[in-house]
Amino acid sequence: MAQRLDGRVAVITGGGSGIGLASARRLASEGARVVVADVDGDAGRAAADEVGGLFVQVDVTDEEQVEALFQTAVDTYGSLDVAFNNAGISPPDDDSILTTGMAAWQRVQQVNLTSVYLCCRFAIPHMLRQGRGSVINTASFVATMGAATSQISYTASKGGVLAMSRELGVQFARQGVRVNALSPGPVNTPLLRELFAKDPERAARRLVHVPLGRFAEPEEIAAAVAFLASDDSSFITASNFLVDGGISGAYVTPL
Ligand SMILES: NC(=O)c1ccc[n+]([C@@H]2O[C@H](COP(=O)([O-])OP(=O)(O)OC[C@H]3O[C@@H](n4cnc5c(N)ncnc54)[C@H](O)[C@@H]3O)[C@@H](O)[C@H]2O)c1
Repeated sequence: MAQRLDGRVAVITGGGSGIGLASARRLASEGARVVVADVDGDAGRAAADEVGGLFVQVDVTDEEQVEALFQTAVDTYGSLDVAFNNAGISPPDDDSILTTGMAAWQRVQQVNLTSVYLCCRFAIPHMLRQGRGSVINTASFVATMGAATSQISYTASKGGVLAMSRELGVQFARQGVRVNALSPGPVNTPLLRELFAKDPERAARRLVHVPLGRFAEPEEIAAAVAFLASDDSSFITASNFLVDGGISGAYVTPL
């Protein structure tokens, strides 16, 4: 594996599972020192142990805990080069706007959008001090495409992540800090498996729109994270970096 991240320090929220876990493995394999941040102590600790990194138990909706997370990364490893702000939820009570109540709406906004605001607010000052950094915020293809199978707060939260990332990418572009939104298509992770496990028809209804004909594997998203984290993407900022199997470009898909 190329050592594109040799000596770089990467914080990954939601690093205990799915896309975050695959990214912890990938960034570590490219030489990064990885800080796994997760609310799930067992999963997060296991991930950090596996990649020889540091685990910090964090609820990404908590202002003080997020501030302490990035400070701990800098205190432990001496810098903060990559912030992969990736933790997110997709609970079943976030559904059609006709049935989604305030509690579900607010919880998803907190975990998916407010967390990214907090992570950017507390990560970027470290990067500005160094004059270098790459922030990658996990949005989703649903930030730019409508679905009749609505998860209304999730979609709105990812639209917020996309707009916020663009703005920050522009604001800090001349100070060495790049900020990109990463928009995966549907990925074969616990989050998605849980959603479709009981209902294969729900999965089939979505798969028909994917030109590549399958869901992504977490490792395929992690490869994009490693690219955006590294200097190979030095001219990419304020982007919506789609890794979606062609969904966003498709009208009629192959049989
Ligand atoms: N799986 C997909 O199809 C898909 C598609 C597009 C975007 N995404 C986004 O990718 C990101 C990762 O998704 P995934 O599929 O890997 O999910 P996942 O459920 O496998 O992992 C999410 C991780 O985030 C952690 N987490 C949840 N709430 C937290 C909190 N309050 N504080 C700290 N950690 C918390 C969980 O403990 C878990 O380890 C999410 O932002 C999700 O919205 C996923």
